[in-house]
Amino acid sequence: MTVQHRDSLINSKVSQGRVGVRYPRDNSIYQQTMKINGTPYRTIWPTADNTAVEIIDQTRLPHVFATLRLESMRDAERAIKDMQVRGAPLIGVTAAYGVALSMRHHASDAALKATCDKLLLARPTAVNLRWGIERMRAFLVPLPEKERADAAWREAARIADEDMAICSSIGEHGSELIRVMHEKKKDTVNILTHCNAGWLATVDWGTALAPIYKAFDAGLPVHVWVDETRPRNQGASLTAWELGQHGVPHTVIADNTGGHLMQHGMVDMVIVGTDRVTAGGDVCNKIGTYLKALVAFDNRVPFYVALPTPTIDWTIRDGVKEIPIEERAAEEVTHISGLCDDGQVRSVQLTPKGARAANYGFDVTPARLVTGLITERGVVAANAEAMRVLSDIAPPYIDDDQLERSR
Ligand code: MRU
Repeated sequence: MTVQHRDSLINSKVSQGRVGVRYPRDNSIYQQTMKINGTPYRTIWPTADNTAVEIIDQTRLPHVFATLRLESMRDAERAIKDMQVRGAPLIGVTAAYGVALSMRHHASDAALKATCDKLLLARPTAVNLRWGIERMRAFLVPLPEKERADAAWREAARIADEDMAICSSIGEHGSELIRVMHEKKKDTVNILTHCNAGWLATVDWGTALAPIYKAFDAGLPVHVWVDETRPRNQGASLTAWELGQHGVPHTVIADNTGGHLMQHGMVDMVIVGTDRVTAGGDVCNKIGTYLKALVAFDNRVPFYVALPTPTIDWTIRDGVKEIPIEERAAEEVTHISGLCDDGQVRSVQLTPKGARAANYGFDVTPARLVTGLITERGVVAANAEAMRVLSDIAPPYIDDDQLERSR
């Protein structure tokens, strides 16, 4: 299997235009696609009276399915901090709704600034948080105060709809890679993924899992190796759950298993999501992603990263030096929770009493290890030159001169 040369534009059909996603007049792309026990769900949706939003509480999956109502900016902030919603795109959408909820109560310039400043601190690594907040701020600032509440609600809903359309398009482009792999191999395509970059991490479809859902729905034989993703186990609890709901064949593996599988030809490609990609193509994602990229490179297994273009941080170049890495509570490492035989979900301690633990949430995979970036506009190589075609999308994206200077 050939790892594509990183300097080439991998897919010459990268679409041009502001977002590069078709919005059909009949809104068919907005039909909810992902189902829970047969019922279509998004991860976030406005209540019928438009006074609040509801979310799926992801801290309780896979053992309990529960929804939560967010009625204020504080609720949205807490949901992001406590990871009741998580995944870069969904964090951005929730923050946008957080701004909209705040405008219901106070719509002055000062209140808008205070809301944005507060929400920006909810989690440090996923750049979509900043993107969603800045987009809301830029949209609301020119409006008269009395119009802000309704306009903010509509804009947040639009951001959510766009996220769904973008992820659907990522799925189309990525499933083409799976189709090509299947044509070559003429057998089941085995894909390894890390963390949860499925529909639970976005509004619908997902990023890394969108190509898999589209390929599966098109009848291609796929099988997914699901990294458990310690310490919070988003793979074991969320990815396995949503793949199971959709009927996609998958196997959960301990985090250290990927190397062995790749040495034995049991992985055809890796597809992961990301929380921030630099203008030079460095990829920040859930802790452990870098190790998988190294093993993939050593075994000539293509390593793809699926992302919506708002996940690109055009203001930075060197991911290792410049991306803030979230550090979370040591208890996420020292303890683990799961379903007990009596049907109760409980947390138990893994480590000796008093053992110190460190909990770095993310790591950075250098661009040289990335085979390609699967975006809503096509698949591009992970380098500044190839990524240029994506850089005309919206502020605060940098222009050519800035890009030049950042080299
Ligand atoms: O800490 P999380 O669960 O928010 O981290 C999520 C990830 O690392 C995902 O892989 C990434 O956000 C991409 S989501 C489409």
